[in-house]
Amino acid sequence: MKNLTLGIFGFGCVGQGLWKVLHETKGIRADIKKICIKHPEKQRPIAPEYFTTDPAAILNDPEIDVVVELIDDAEAAFEIVSGALQRGKAVVSANKKMIAYRLPELYDLQQRHGVPFLYEGSCCASIPIIRNLEEYYDNDLLTSVEGIFNGTTNFILTRIFEENLDFPTALQLAQASGFASFRSKI
Ligand SMILES: NC(=O)c1ccc[n+]([C@@H]2O[C@H](COP(=O)([O-])OP(=O)(O)OC[C@H]3O[C@@H](n4cnc5c(N)ncnc54)[C@H](OP(=O)(O)O)[C@@H]3O)[C@@H](O)[C@H]2O)c1
Repeated sequence: MKNLTLGIFGFGCVGQGLWKVLHETKGIRADIKKICIKHPEKQRPIAPEYFTTDPAAILNDPEIDVVVELIDDAEAAFEIVSGALQRGKAVVSANKKMIAYRLPELYDLQQRHGVPFLYEGSCCASIPIIRNLEEYYDNDLLTSVEGIFNGTTNFILTRIFEENLDFPTALQLAQASGFASFRSKI
């Protein structure tokens, strides 16, 4: 079986985490070919040849089978994800805001183009919740599930309620641990 070839959008907390996991875990059959970012002037911890600011360099590359969308802009993410699905590429996204607002449209595109659209990473930092609901509860008459389905929020609230930290300290801890973006404001 051939390795999957990935094109990634975003190289922040999550994008760099994915890079690390793919390079440190043996046996994963996936290679990153290109990474699209927004600010080319930023220092990056890996070779400059990987980076582009042109979405088409990934979306129009026939060798790229899977687009992994990990940016922090829900509107731009929708353009990227819908463009990838329309081109017949499988998509993985962690973009909770885009999924919360645009899931019916994305589901429709997925159905029309017959390609996978996976978004477990958008919910509770990939604790398998969505897949469990789809695979084990699809015949149950669930109408809603309520909770805080966000890993960063749960991390911060746990520190506040169990360790009596104040919000700025809990946020800083979440940032230092790689959960929250350094752009998150107090
Ligand atoms: N952090 C978490 O624990 C976590 C967990 C689950 C899901 N998520 C979701 O995952 C996504 C990424 O989060 P993050 O924490 O990794 O964010 P982040 O650290 O702020 O990184 C965002 C990345 O997106 C890039 N970017 C922004 N707009 C772009 C565009 N139009 N085209 C190409 N690249 C663009 C930025 O480029 P530059 O580097 O050039 O600025 C940066 O590399 C978000 O949707 C977030 O909600 C995050």
